[in-house]
Amino acid sequence: MRLLSAAALAFTVTLPMTTHADEALDELLEARHGFYQMLAMNMGTLAGMAKGETPYDEATASRAAANIEALTHYDLPSLFVEGTASGQIKDSAAKPEIWTNMDDFKTKFGGLVEAAAGASEAVKGGQDKVGPVVGKLGGACKACHDVYREKS
Ligand code: HEC
Repeated sequence: MRLLSAAALAFTVTLPMTTHADEALDELLEARHGFYQMLAMNMGTLAGMAKGETPYDEATASRAAANIEALTHYDLPSLFVEGTASGQIKDSAAKPEIWTNMDDFKTKFGGLVEAAAGASEAVKGGQDKVGPVVGKLGGACKACHDVYREKS
């Protein structure tokens, strides 16, 4: 009887803790996706102008590029916490290889940081300035996705 209640107690104590940890990881994944959504939104603005789908507007282009620059100052790799690879948590498209090659993953992020540096100035001066910036940024996105993001 005593054993049983000890087991019951252990159960009630551990259960909320596990749920709490799961929730924390879910929230982290949501934040990570939000980060990428913000990158993609601003990339969309720039790509639209580069392709001529939306009229070039210097202030809008510069702001979108500045947003991307600002996002690259966030320590993105810190959002790649253990236990959040694809297969470990629902809706993650992060390949497990990230955790076995963290240095290379950080280098890939460094590639984006580099591509984004000065972008808010580089897109000024005309529609023809946007394409090369989009190409540079897009190359850095792709370099990482090709290796570390699950194909959907
Ligand atoms: C250092 C690696 C890296 C770089 C650089 C990178 N990504 Fe990603 N991206 C990932 C990984 C890994 C995922 C999967 C994340 C997940 O599911 O948790 C992802 C997911 C995404 C998603 C899907 C988010 C969601 O809601 O599921 C979008 C959109 C995205 N990236 C856009 C971009 C854009 C745009 C760039 C460049 C401006 C970029 N990424 C640069 C690694 C990277």
